[in-house]
Amino acid sequence: MIVAIDGPSGAGKSSASKAVAAQLGFACLDTGAMYRSIAWRALRDGIALDDGDALGALARTEPIDFAPGEDGGPQRVFIGGDEVTRAIRTAQIDRSVSAVSAHPQVRAALVDQQRRIGRAGDYVVEGRDIGTAVFPDAQVKVFLTASNEERARRRVAQNEARGVGSTDFKAVLADIERRDAIDSSREASPLKVADDAVVIDSSSMSFDAVVAAICDLAGERKAGR
Ligand code: DC
Repeated sequence: MIVAIDGPSGAGKSSASKAVAAQLGFACLDTGAMYRSIAWRALRDGIALDDGDALGALARTEPIDFAPGEDGGPQRVFIGGDEVTRAIRTAQIDRSVSAVSAHPQVRAALVDQQRRIGRAGDYVVEGRDIGTAVFPDAQVKVFLTASNEERARRRVAQNEARGVGSTDFKAVLADIERRDAIDSSREASPLKVADDAVVIDSSSMSFDAVVAAICDLAGERKAGR
């Protein structure tokens, strides 16, 4: 079974996905971390962010791997054997990743990897195009969103807790709005609500209520309703 959770950045997808996966006994796939890993390698290797062919070749040849977090910490991420768990959360990656993820060559390579991973078991998969492009047949599709200001507040709190990334509210809000515009207007698999997705606006919902709503949907679909 695939539970697809799409939505703009800062809507709470990561924490909701983790909690839903834990409750359902599913594994969790953070596809944003994959695009971030390609951006990290591009910056490290001096590959231009507008060179779609070179970035696509990188995405096809460098394996991205995940491992469980230590002591309840975030899931660990590796690209080509280098651990990038923290390095992909910096403000520099926040600024670069939308350009990287807009290239169809990069998307094709990562979508192949995502389908291979997701087909191996029951997964909660979070991203931007999971219900529309990666797993259009997903049994559960959720579009999780929240107001721009609420998303910026949450991203600042998350960066503070992680000790990495910007904690300046205005800068984070501007980055969120800039990324939304790029993610929604790109030609290749733009961020949009799948026709059959359930939209959850979490602006004034508690975290537990969001998790419960998604788990209820999964329970209904499992029961064939
Ligand atoms: O969810 P996130 O902030 O970690 O995502 C990082 C970037 O990757 C974001 O700018 C959009 C892009 N992305 C995408 O285009 N498709 C996905 N399935 C996941 C993320």
